Amino acid sequence: SGFPSLLKNGLSKLGVPKEFLEFFSRRTGDFPRIPEAKGSISAIRDEPFFMPLYELYLTYGGIFRLIFGPKSFLIVSDPSIAKHILKDNSKAYSKGILAEILEFVMGKGLIPADGEIWRVRRRAIVPALHQKYVAAMIGLFGKATDRLCKKLDVAATDGEDVEMESLFSRLTLDIIGKAVFNYDFDSLTVDTGIVEAVYTVLREAEDRSIAPIPVWDLPIWKDISPKLKKVNAALKLINDTLDNLIAICKRMVDEEELQFHEEYMNEKDPSILHFLLASGDEVSSKQLRDDLMTMLIAGHETSAAVLTWTFYLLSKEPSVMAKLQDEVDSVLGDRFPTIEDLKKLRYTTRVINESLRLYPQPPVLIRRSIEEDVIGGYPIKRGEDIFISVWNLHRCPNHWEEADRFNPERWPLDGPNPNETNQNFSYLPFGGGPRKCVGDMFATFENLVAVAMLVRRFDFQMALGAPPVKMTTGATIHTTEGLKMTVTRRTRPPIVPKLEMASLEVDVNSVSSERA
Ligand code: HEM
Repeated sequence: SGFPSLLKNGLSKLGVPKEFLEFFSRRTGDFPRIPEAKGSISAIRDEPFFMPLYELYLTYGGIFRLIFGPKSFLIVSDPSIAKHILKDNSKAYSKGILAEILEFVMGKGLIPADGEIWRVRRRAIVPALHQKYVAAMIGLFGKATDRLCKKLDVAATDGEDVEMESLFSRLTLDIIGKAVFNYDFDSLTVDTGIVEAVYTVLREAEDRSIAPIPVWDLPIWKDISPKLKKVNAALKLINDTLDNLIAICKRMVDEEELQFHEEYMNEKDPSILHFLLASGDEVSSKQLRDDLMTMLIAGHETSAAVLTWTFYLLSKEPSVMAKLQDEVDSVLGDRFPTIEDLKKLRYTTRVINESLRLYPQPPVLIRRSIEEDVIGGYPIKRGEDIFISVWNLHRCPNHWEEADRFNPERWPLDGPNPNETNQNFSYLPFGGGPRKCVGDMFATFENLVAVAMLVRRFDFQMALGAPPVKMTTGATIHTTEGLKMTVTRRTRPPIVPKLEMASLEVDVNSVSSERA
């Protein structure tokens, strides 16, 4: 700062163009430097990496540079800088490290892809998640959750505790397999080779995202490591399965007479894959597989984590649980939710909004600058690796009242559904800008159905002697030792609300007749 910066401010007030002032400042070396945090994060071993980033944020502010030896990262925790990177100047950023780490499993799928490939694939995939598709998925969410309920029923009868995190993971795997490529993993019931393969690959992706050295790239090692062999075999099994599903789906599309249109959906197979093939999407089979794999992972881990942390939070706040159960009893009773029901489950929606605030999935977004830019008043070069800490944004003590408290009431029931736009990038559960999640509606309905049906039928408590719930992280936030809960059937007699005729007409199929 000093005189040059006073001069710059003065000139800028006089209307001198910003470009000129930036040029001028660069010549005089007047740009302030980004605060630097040196030292080693790995000193704090038993914490997930985003926790020390929170401490550093409180010290260094909304943007700082974290230096490890020759490497450095910019850590962003400021809403307006996040908005600049994700939305206003998103063309200047790529997925950087994330694309490098995920390459082995997602290839050039929609999450890691950049540039032209991303543009083309986004344009092909977004239309597949149209409203009619998402509405049709609500029936699937109900059926899958019902399978989980049956499992919990058995545990409740036998008085056995259940590990909910792995059950949620299986629930959302079953759902996403059907939804994306019409495949029934049935992982809540059986452990097949393919289910194990999916978990092998997921664990590898997470290991790589926190590994200090890319051992998977080391010559020789990569050919002899037993772990990598197992990963490659798992990848091959998944790829073969996907190729097979693509071939089956192609045959179905060839034989059907349905005309393709905007809200096209094959009732027997409403999957995203079916839509893409029917749309005549010209895509290589490798790219198609990459996109399917990307959606499988994106839609599976995230939702499982949201459900896990929601039930954890609920177990700590019985008053929220009671209010939630009241709402579900009066809106839903004991039938499968319809889309009308979901719109009426306002408090349930707030519970999920709040869970996503406290445990955002993923907790950080990764970008790399591919051009020079100015962020938060600091010039940056191309090639800067950037972490946008959604965790920090969502827990900023200046922005949120009692930031660490699980308080669904912070958002009024009759207010808008909070999102990155109406919260000015202080809250971004699904990202923002052109790379925003394509599955946000899908995931919101999925979580609503699962939470509503589960709390309708059961009470959930932390099991006696359960391990303490601590966080660890790969792509999403996991628990270190699972979420061990005691599940009991609710004793209150079911109130079965009358069905309105309107909703009967809309969705007869999702009204269950097999309720106990
Ligand atoms: C992108 C969150 C469910 C597919 C994203 C991003 C976030 C996110 C934060 C932005 C990543 C970034 O900017 O770097 C979530 C959460 C979910 C969820 C919290 C569940 C609660 C789903 C589902 C699907 C899906 C169910 C698929 C049906 C995708 C895809 C992208 C994405 C394909 C990449 C979009 C692009 O780059 O153009 N998600 N997601 N997500 N999500 Fe989701």
